[in-house]
Amino acid sequence: MSESNNLIVTIERAASILQEGGLVALPTETVYGLGANALDPIAVARIFAAKERPFFDPLIVHVPDIDWMPRIVSEFPRVAVQLAERFWPGPLTLVLPKVPAIPDLVTSGLPNVGVRIPDHELTRQVLRLANVPVAAPSANPFGRLSPTTAEHVYQQLGLRVDAILDGGPCRVGIESTILQIDKHGVTLLRPGGISLEEIEALIGTVNLPESTVSKTPIAPGMLASHYAPRTPLKIVNEIPSSVESSRTGLLVLCNDTELQQFAKIELLSPTGSLVTAAANFFQALHRLDAAGLDEIIAVRFPDRGLGRALNDRLQRAEHRGVHQSK
Ligand code: TXA
Ligand code: MG
Repeated sequence: MSESNNLIVTIERAASILQEGGLVALPTETVYGLGANALDPIAVARIFAAKERPFFDPLIVHVPDIDWMPRIVSEFPRVAVQLAERFWPGPLTLVLPKVPAIPDLVTSGLPNVGVRIPDHELTRQVLRLANVPVAAPSANPFGRLSPTTAEHVYQQLGLRVDAILDGGPCRVGIESTILQIDKHGVTLLRPGGISLEEIEALIGTVNLPESTVSKTPIAPGMLASHYAPRTPLKIVNEIPSSVESSRTGLLVLCNDTELQQFAKIELLSPTGSLVTAAANFFQALHRLDAAGLDEIIAVRFPDRGLGRALNDRLQRAEHRGVHQSK
């Protein structure tokens, strides 16, 4: 793990740093989170500073068990119970009315808070030991690629974090699915690690926002430009037979043909599994981004299952907005 070694801590140390108001990068099954005590507004403010994240982008609160819900949300309707029983711990965030103890900074002034129980035993142990809810966005600078290894966290945030808990590579590899539950029913705010098909099989039709790519986001993960590599990225429907630059990289689900036109190729799953592709997705993008390429060509995924969340991330990576100029 090279230079990041001296930031790596034990579960006990991670818990006490959180209690003292520090920042700890925590592994989850989706991506690494940059955690702080959600009840301590100064600790939470340090998250925004470390990520250079705008204050209008609210944070997800992480808890170890369902018994914690009354400490976070004021309502937990029947449909939330159904979803929680089926998908927690796991890559699902529920947005529900918050209790007053959750600082406005966590929710960017919204009356609702996003909450989830991550499916990572080390982090759940830290959450139990710390005995505080932990606000944690993905542990990357705002708008950049999400980290799925401790090394990614160190490369992107370095000493802006007080500690890193190394839990190995993230199993799911793509952020949680976010559902808002209110009087309008259940609305998908962000596609993610649990597919829409699985959710609808359990609770019936879910509302889809008109466009999940928006400039004035309900969930700022919906900002048009997000999850972006530094290298320009272009989405295509099929692998092109010729490319403009000899320094072009390819990101593709699977392939069995000869491809000499690319300087670097990332195949996400030899068998075409979207689950495996999600697990490899950000790591592959990090490697392509580090390869000094002129352009990354990404082949669109099938629009089903986790392919939907992967296409969503690709679209935001392609949309080169203000964050690219930094
Ligand atoms: O898998 C995940 O969800 C990871 C891990 C660390 O848990 N976290 C994550 O956090 O992806 P972040 O901050 O990178 O993205 C969370 C998204 C943001 O786009 C935010 O706007 C949305 O969740 N969100 C959080 N609280 C919200 C709320 N009260 N209302 C609407 N959207 C909310
Ligand atoms: Mg993020």
